[in-house]
Amino acid sequence: MKIQTLEWVGDGLRLLDQTLLPNDERYFVCTDVEVLANAIETLQVRGAPAIGVAAAYGVVIAAMNAGLSRRREAVAAAITRLRKTRPTAVNLFWALDRMASVADASADGELVTSLLKEAQAIEVDDFRRCEAMGRHGAALLPDEATVFTHCNAGGLATSGYGTALGVFYAAAEIGKRLRVFADETRPLLQGARLTAWELSKAGIDVTVICDNMAAAVMRQKNVDGVFVGADRIAANGDAANKIGTYGLAIIARHHNVPFYVVAPMSTVDISIPDGSGIPIELRNENEVRRGFGPNTVPESAQVFNPAFDVTPAELISGIVTEFGIARPPYSAALKKWMEAV
Ligand code: MRU
Repeated sequence: MKIQTLEWVGDGLRLLDQTLLPNDERYFVCTDVEVLANAIETLQVRGAPAIGVAAAYGVVIAAMNAGLSRRREAVAAAITRLRKTRPTAVNLFWALDRMASVADASADGELVTSLLKEAQAIEVDDFRRCEAMGRHGAALLPDEATVFTHCNAGGLATSGYGTALGVFYAAAEIGKRLRVFADETRPLLQGARLTAWELSKAGIDVTVICDNMAAAVMRQKNVDGVFVGADRIAANGDAANKIGTYGLAIIARHHNVPFYVVAPMSTVDISIPDGSGIPIELRNENEVRRGFGPNTVPESAQVFNPAFDVTPAELISGIVTEFGIARPPYSAALKKWMEAV
């Protein structure tokens, strides 16, 4: 199972434009850092691991486009620009830090080759980590399972396999039968547009519900677990993910349904003790005012549009990483695994 979210094509990065899904499967090639930065800001490429991988290739593009005498300067400028695209997902900064270290350790004439090698390693590594998380997470599910997810933590949000959805793919690959309820995920509908698109493509039974239906549906169905991704996990296990995740965790706790966060260690930010220190991106109010159509909010009303919220560790039953499943309290396991990365 692989979704072709991004692909290095020799002179640039080929991206699936996620803003056009599910109606139009259109790819475009980025050969310019500003175009790539813009693609991250406008969510043409989105999801924590995917923006890390895309940004890494952005640094390669900067090196390729500059003459030898200006190459190092162009790489530094690209890293500065790409760091400003989105604030919450730590994978972006993790990947750019890796690229900066490789640039520092390379001679000018070798910059392009060594940066490309590192970006490809970040991409391949992400895919393998997702497969490992999938295997660990799939063991949590019975042979016939009903699960919930929020936003899109799938192949589209990573280098092709997915974190939370990777668990579903891995479960399906070993013959488990799943029924997935996907929250539509207002305001940008990543659940309806993206999760439902990729699960359907993979032949997995998916039902889209409005976000405000989650409590009622969870009460009616026998739900085996909620699986979500994360954009940044603090040292104590508090996890930032798409706005609405926190509410879903509260609903799951009320109904005694286990709530799992599935994320690679590149999403863990051990330097932040708890979720209160995680920067939350505020996005343009028009995403709420008009979403995908006409105005639905009177001009006179104000709009608040935080893109993420933080689910406290106490509501999380387990954090599934490439190393295994951490159980609360999370600090010791996350610290140990971080040292092993
Ligand atoms: O704003 P987005 O679409 O980039 O938000 C993405 C999410 O919140 C995902 O759930 C998260 O990045 C985990 S992706 C494996």
